[in-house]
Amino acid sequence: VLKRAFSSSTSLNAVKTVTVVGGGLMGSGIAQVAAQAGQNVTIVDLQPELLEKAQKSIQNNLTRVAKKVHKDDAAKVEGFVKESFSRIKVSTNIEDGVNADLIIEAIVEKLDVKQELFNKLDLLAPEHTILASNTSSISINEIGAGIKRKDSIVGNLTHIPLNHVSYFRFGGLHFFNPVPIMRLLEVIKGDHISEETYQTMMAWGKSVGKTCITCKDTPGFVVNRLLGPYSAEALRMYERGDASKEDIDIGMKLGAGYPMGPFELADYTGLDTNKFVLQVMLEKTGDPVFRPIPMLDKMVAEGKLGIKSGEGFYKYK
Ligand code: CAA
Ligand code: NAD
Repeated sequence: VLKRAFSSSTSLNAVKTVTVVGGGLMGSGIAQVAAQAGQNVTIVDLQPELLEKAQKSIQNNLTRVAKKVHKDDAAKVEGFVKESFSRIKVSTNIEDGVNADLIIEAIVEKLDVKQELFNKLDLLAPEHTILASNTSSISINEIGAGIKRKDSIVGNLTHIPLNHVSYFRFGGLHFFNPVPIMRLLEVIKGDHISEETYQTMMAWGKSVGKTCITCKDTPGFVVNRLLGPYSAEALRMYERGDASKEDIDIGMKLGAGYPMGPFELADYTGLDTNKFVLQVMLEKTGDPVFRPIPMLDKMVAEGKLGIKSGEGFYKYK
């Protein structure tokens, strides 16, 4: 009988310390929900000014959450914000973040940059640490190709071919923007994730208030595989001059009940992230719906990245 040893792994519900690498739009939200849930969090980013921006946005968003929970009780609102915020440390040095039960990567959507980071984390982090990526579209198997950490397996394995044994302490934790509000977490099972790691990820997602769904390591997983073509078609409709971006946005909000139109959503997500996701999806699926969109490429080259840069399809300054 195949048994798995829990001794060296992070056992279920045991995640108490979390490090988030990349303190941008997603990283700051992930750090917030973990701190709200009582976990100690470190955010690591390359740029001190982005860490400052992350801290400010977390404080604002914690206040929004606290006002919902504690209504007009100002003392409780202040207490909740102060307490949650005090659990978050920031650093520009990755070594300050490696001592964690769970490390979630939320840096730029580029395979080589992610791989380099994970190879470093794998060397520096303690044995029990679970590594996870918040990638929107890149293959979890490819991102983790260099990772060596495993959950130990005890028992007689002679009857199971080794390449069928799944045991890596690494997987995908795909959040949605804005993280404190969107209730979904996609848990991505790479081909070789260990059952303990998968179960710990599911339990951790629940502990930070999310509903988890299980996804295979397919391009765009579940939600982006469906949102990607929708977003690309909307951009092309505007590029062709078939309708104004304002009318397309109104159309999808009032005619289809979406909370944001596709241009508002693209600005909200970040046009650079949209472009990288399209590139990966085209490469992986070959589906021409994901082919490059010249208008999107031009805007990214001009630094018009959406809300985070002050201008995208709309202006925010
Ligand atoms: N933190 C905490 N609270 C927040 C928040 C945040 N970051 N953003 C919004 N809120 C709260 C507001 O305080 C407000 O609370 P009340 O209802 O108590 O007043 C509530 O959320 C609604 O916000 P707003 O009134 O400001 O605006 P809204 O009604 O338009 O809602 C929205 C904002 C929740 C973002 C909504 O527009 C929405 O759901 N948009 C679609 C988002 C979406 O599709 N996300 C998925 C993108 S795809 C992705 O993330 C995957 C990927 O890989 C790219
Ligand atoms: P962002 O540009 O807002 O933030 C990325 C942050 O990572 C920046 O602050 C940058 O300084 C930092 N960074 C880059 N390389 C780094 C490194 N080597 N070490 C430490 N920090 C580094 O991007 P984002 O929108 O938060 O996206 C981050 C990841 O999350 C991407 O993989 C993206 O595909 C994914 N994602 C994005 C969304 C979205 O709606 N924007 C939704 C789900 C998942």
